[in-house]
Amino acid sequence: MKAAFIAHTGAPGVIVHGDLPDPVPGPRQVLVRVRAAAINPIDTYVRAGAVAMPLQFPFVVGCDLAGEVVAVGAEVEGMRAGMRVWGSNQGLLGRQGTCAELAAVDDCWLYPTPDGVSDRDAAAAALVAITAHLGLVDNAALAAGETIFVNGGSGGVGTAVVQIARALGGRVLASAGTPHKREAVCRLGAEAAFDYRRPDLVAAVQQSAPNGVHVYWETQREPAFDQAVAMLADGGRIVVMAGRDARPAFPVGPFYVKGCRLCGFAMFKADSRRQAAAAVDINRWLSRGQLRVPIDRVLPLSATAEAHAMQEANTIARSGALSGKIIIEP
Ligand SMILES: NC(=O)c1ccc[n+]([C@@H]2O[C@H](COP(=O)([O-])OP(=O)(O)OC[C@H]3O[C@@H](n4cnc5c(N)ncnc54)[C@H](OP(=O)(O)O)[C@@H]3O)[C@@H](O)[C@H]2O)c1
Repeated sequence: MKAAFIAHTGAPGVIVHGDLPDPVPGPRQVLVRVRAAAINPIDTYVRAGAVAMPLQFPFVVGCDLAGEVVAVGAEVEGMRAGMRVWGSNQGLLGRQGTCAELAAVDDCWLYPTPDGVSDRDAAAAALVAITAHLGLVDNAALAAGETIFVNGGSGGVGTAVVQIARALGGRVLASAGTPHKREAVCRLGAEAAFDYRRPDLVAAVQQSAPNGVHVYWETQREPAFDQAVAMLADGGRIVVMAGRDARPAFPVGPFYVKGCRLCGFAMFKADSRRQAAAAVDINRWLSRGQLRVPIDRVLPLSATAEAHAMQEANTIARSGALSGKIIIEP
């Protein structure tokens, strides 16, 4: 099969587009013909060696996939050749990745793709929608009628958080970098979107939420805790999920006086049952058209290195170049 793989960690240029033997599914695995894979920031950290993961070389990059079942292992139940499936959490913790024509995936990480939902849309939603679900449901416990502010509502995670918060009955405020992106975030369900560069951002959000926001979701690798705590209502929750090396200042006084909580999590540590439960809701929202993660561009497998460079520039250098996910079509 053709695959995008690495023989050692390094810059995006270490990704080779070449031939590897077809994977052979184990007894509890499903062989998937990958029709779409999505790029996520963590793909680039793993490739770079910035996040230490057990890697078996040649290592195929990529977490997300959507496609169709080619064959199933002897112990797999409920899946058969021809079924359309999607999944995430591959290319992590010793598992091979998804940027390849074929992937052998443990059956516990695969979910049926609803009729009417394209492989591109299923792959684009995979990791970011599971992340949004874990953060909103388990961590922030967003209740219907509560207000959330999503700092970076235009990114991969942000666009999923905006839509899933709406699906849960929340009222959504967000930030984004350009007028075009702010309009797009509002089309996804945010009531208002603000320029994150505004010096009076806190005051602007307070005008829209005079009693404060119940949840502040930080997508940035350097969390803005002063801003977050200033925006929060009494009993508010901050969600952090990025910035391994960040050591920002923290406004302890106003935080505890307001009785707030700070939640942090990494989606890849959620077990397969928890992620499958998220997938049930995600499939319902995908089917109903309540969730559609924007796609910036679709690239061939041979352009995976280019896709990693673009993703890095967007997430780490904050280039603002992307307006949605990058999809790889093998
Ligand atoms: N813990 C977990 O489980 C988990 C899961 C998924 C992702 N993550 C992490 O979450 C982070 C975001 O991932 P992603 O896929 O959403 O990245 P992304 O698609 O690159 O999105 C980046 C976002 O940051 C915004 N942004 C840029 N500069 C900003 C600023 N100064 N203030 C506020 N927002 C700003 C961008 O807005 P514009 O485009 O409008 O400029 C965009 O919305 C990454 O660090 C990733 O590693 C963690």
